[in-house]
Amino acid sequence: MSAVNLDNFSKAAQSGSQYVLAPLPYANNALEPVITANTLSFHYGKHHKTYVDNLNNLLANSDLAGQSLEQIIKATAGQADKAAIFNNAAQVWNHMFYWHSLKPNGGGEPSAVLKQKIAASFGNLDACKKDLAQAALTQFGSGWAWLVLDGDKVAIAKTGNAETPLTKNVRPLLTIDVWEHAYYLDYQNRRADYVNTVLDKLINWDFAAANLG
Ligand code: FE2
Repeated sequence: MSAVNLDNFSKAAQSGSQYVLAPLPYANNALEPVITANTLSFHYGKHHKTYVDNLNNLLANSDLAGQSLEQIIKATAGQADKAAIFNNAAQVWNHMFYWHSLKPNGGGEPSAVLKQKIAASFGNLDACKKDLAQAALTQFGSGWAWLVLDGDKVAIAKTGNAETPLTKNVRPLLTIDVWEHAYYLDYQNRRADYVNTVLDKLINWDFAAANLG
């Protein structure tokens, strides 16, 4: 079976013209103690599910129904009259991407190719992690911090609310959700503790490497 990457994982969110809550790639309690089962049960079972349900309701009788999440996101980005569809489709996609960006016993070091690309772009892995954490901490309000491939360079991006690098000319490699619902039950207002612990213990460098394409 080929590695899970952004070219194939989101098909799991679709069943004909309906969108479904794709399974988590691990058990609810698999990310403990960094992210508790309590947080995952709300974040995945309530927040992520609500975006899926909203999307199905919004797309009923729409010509967009049945298109891939990526197609819907790109077709509705920046259009004020399609903002609700964009927001829900992008949040379904962003959350799937986030679940795969984490794994039990993650962290550590990326494999050779990604490690070399990170070194070429940032100097070393620690500098990359520091910049990614900084993006996560300085994203004002709700949003996302991303590692992306911009041309041949690995770079950092941050987006607000449902915005996603899918609509930009870059390739997402991994993401950290910095909406309060991602960490408030476990870390309250301590976003830095959440971000740094995720980077050290859960981040899935294999997923990022698979997304290099
Ligand atoms: Fe979230």
